[in-house]
Amino acid sequence: MMRARRLLLALLAGLLLAGLVEGSIFKLPVPPPQHRYGDLVIDRVSTKAGQKPVFFSHWTHRTRYTCRVCHFELGFDFKVNRTEITEQANREGMYCGTCHDGVVAFGPTDENCARCHTGKAEIDKQSFLKLQRTLPPTGFGNGINWTRALQKGLITPKYSIYRPEEKPLDFNKRLELKANWSMVTPAIFDHATHVPWLDCANCHPDIFNIKKKTTKHFEMRYILEGKFCGVCHLDVAFPLDECELCHPGIRQR
Ligand code: HEC
Ligand code: HEC
Ligand code: HEC
Ligand code: HEC
Ligand code: HEC
Ligand code: HEC
Repeated sequence: MMRARRLLLALLAGLLLAGLVEGSIFKLPVPPPQHRYGDLVIDRVSTKAGQKPVFFSHWTHRTRYTCRVCHFELGFDFKVNRTEITEQANREGMYCGTCHDGVVAFGPTDENCARCHTGKAEIDKQSFLKLQRTLPPTGFGNGINWTRALQKGLITPKYSIYRPEEKPLDFNKRLELKANWSMVTPAIFDHATHVPWLDCANCHPDIFNIKKKTTKHFEMRYILEGKFCGVCHLDVAFPLDECELCHPGIRQR
């Protein structure tokens, strides 16, 4: 009796997980093509001021700079159209203008306006494919395993643009985040894969409490709404489709 019941339960759990992976329970967003993953069109003020919206590509910038540089040192928000970027602020050396000053990268001269104010996603697929061929592959997002690319030194994004000597803290605590559903294998969060890209303050305390298992409402449906892991793992870091990177126990086809 007991054995039959356990078998039935195991079968049900298997079916449920298969259903989850098929996406019948979690509605995952439709992914853009690999060379467009992480691309943004910024239009908080441009159209209103009679300018075309601004194009920004994450993959071109993240090969050169860690997330920390822009999202910690320069104060860009983790949500498009939230940062108060203006043409004047850029010219005063803030935001894009920190680098786009005509020295580090092209500056705001008349012939360059249209390089940012393109109105649409711009970078050609050929330059993307050229980069992609040199980096370890993966199935989703940009199709690039950015973790491996960084660990192997195939890209060397700057950790700080103000203090070149600054290095990531040696903090590699690996956490098992147990799901509220007993049949689901826990999600793994490894500080070691995040700390080289991000500052502690990018996550603590705004996105996650520092004490394990005290972050409330830590569930997939909230992650899918762009909270918690979903702050980054929907648009820029590898997307939620890659279940097994976070849940090593969930098998994909
Ligand atoms: C390095 C990229 C970049 C370049 C080059 C650039 N801009 Fe912008 N510009 C931006 C960004 C980003 C914004 C804010 C976009 C938004 O939220 O709509 C912006 C906003 C604007 C706005 C909106 C109103 C305001 O006061 O901010 C105007 C007008 C503008 N730019 C004009 C220009 C002109 C003219 C040039 C060329 C001389 C130029 N920009 C070059 C990135 C750039
Ligand atoms: C060169 C600067 C730069 C780098 C490097 C950078 N970002 Fe961004 N990121 C931006 C800007 C600019 C925005 C738009 C902010 C706005 O419009 O308010 C943005 C927006 C985002 C968004 C919101 C996307 C959306 O659709 O709303 C996420 C998520 C994000 N970045 C994650 C990351 C991660 C993760 C990394 C590192 C792998 C990273 N960024 C590296 C500049 C950068
Ligand atoms: C931390 C430095 C840094 C910041 C901040 C930054 N860029 Fe760049 N960007 C670069 C560098 C370096 C290049 C490549 C060199 C060049 O093209 O002059 C580049 C290239 C570009 C290009 C050319 C196409 C590409 O993606 O390679 C565009 C468009 C662009 N940036 C837009 C922006 C906009 C818009 C912002 C602000 C929202 C921004 N960048 C913020 C450093 C930066
Ligand atoms: C970026 C990491 C990440 C990815 C990718 C991811 N998950 Fe999760 N998942 C989590 C976290 C974190 C939790 C919450 C763990 C906890 O309760 O402590 C969770 C919880 C769950 C739960 C428990 C019930 C719930 O809703 O919270 C299920 C079932 C689940 N995930 C299935 C999946 C499936 C299926 C996929 C692939 C389509 C997936 N996950 C992709 C991080 C991820
Ligand atoms: C990408 C996001 C992210 C970054 C960056 C990050 N953390 Fe965390 N941290 C987490 C998550 C998620 C948890 C678990 C929270 C929970 O379970 O509620 C956590 C938990 C912790 C804990 C509690 C561990 C335990 O065993 O209870 C400490 C301490 C901590 N982080 C310190 C740091 C430090 C120091 C840094 C910078 C070197 C850092 N974190 C960077 C996401 C991050
Ligand atoms: C602030 C942004 C951010 C948040 C929040 C975040 N991550 Fe990440 N994560 C990244 C970046 C950036 C990488 C590098 C790989 C990439 O960009 O695809 C990464 C890598 C990983 C990897 C390594 C995959 C590999 O190939 O080894 C795992 C696993 C992971 N994240 C799980 C999580 C989980 C689980 C959470 C929530 C508890 C979370 N992440 C929250 C930005 C974030």
